[in-house]
Amino acid sequence: MKIKSSEFIISAVKPSQYPQTHMPEIALAGRSNVGKSSLINMLVNRKKLAKTSSVPGKTQTINFYLINNEFHLVDLPGYGYAKVSKRSQEEWGKIIETYLTSRENLVEVLQLVDIRHKPTVQDKQMYEWIKHFGFKGIVVATKLDKIKRSQRQKQISIIRKELGMDKDDVLIPVSSLNREGKEELWEVICSIFID
Ligand code: GTP
Ligand code: MG
Repeated sequence: MKIKSSEFIISAVKPSQYPQTHMPEIALAGRSNVGKSSLINMLVNRKKLAKTSSVPGKTQTINFYLINNEFHLVDLPGYGYAKVSKRSQEEWGKIIETYLTSRENLVEVLQLVDIRHKPTVQDKQMYEWIKHFGFKGIVVATKLDKIKRSQRQKQISIIRKELGMDKDDVLIPVSSLNREGKEELWEVICSIFID
């Protein structure tokens, strides 16, 4: 995909703050620190459009980015970071849930998991939820640069098995560091708009 423009639109914690448009949206869900914000930057060739941090819990609001004046990429707060207070975790959980269940613009959810790790209980719940609500649920395995080439297939098999993915379900391994997987992921994203 040729990126002609990318801009931050708004941070929201409730529906009244969501952009009032009919533009399609693709949301990124996943654990804190899995690399959601970094993936947005990688996809649009910007270093600091979305704020990233090595400390989990960076993104605490729903952030809308307008791409090519055509659609939004939506960065969600991460779930499952134990060091965040239970109350904050619950609040973020509600913010994410409200968005995912009420947003009519939402056309697909990318579920990010770290390629190095077995998906967590919350990852499995999220994936099931995405499927339940009729999305395809595109799994993006992040931080591909952190494992040896020889480990790739094994890690991918573990993720597929743990999430209960079917043969036809899509998993794209990516690295936001060295940009591997970028074109493959854009292809999948473009196909969402064509279907
Ligand atoms: P929250 O906002 O806390 O939910 O986290 P996030 O999912 O948005 O993660 P973020 O993009 O902030 O990245 C977390 C950390 O992982 C940062 O230190 C990133 O530099 C690092 N990181 C993200 N993607 C990659 C990757 O593909 N490779 C490597 N090596 N590091 C990555
Ligand atoms: Mg983030």
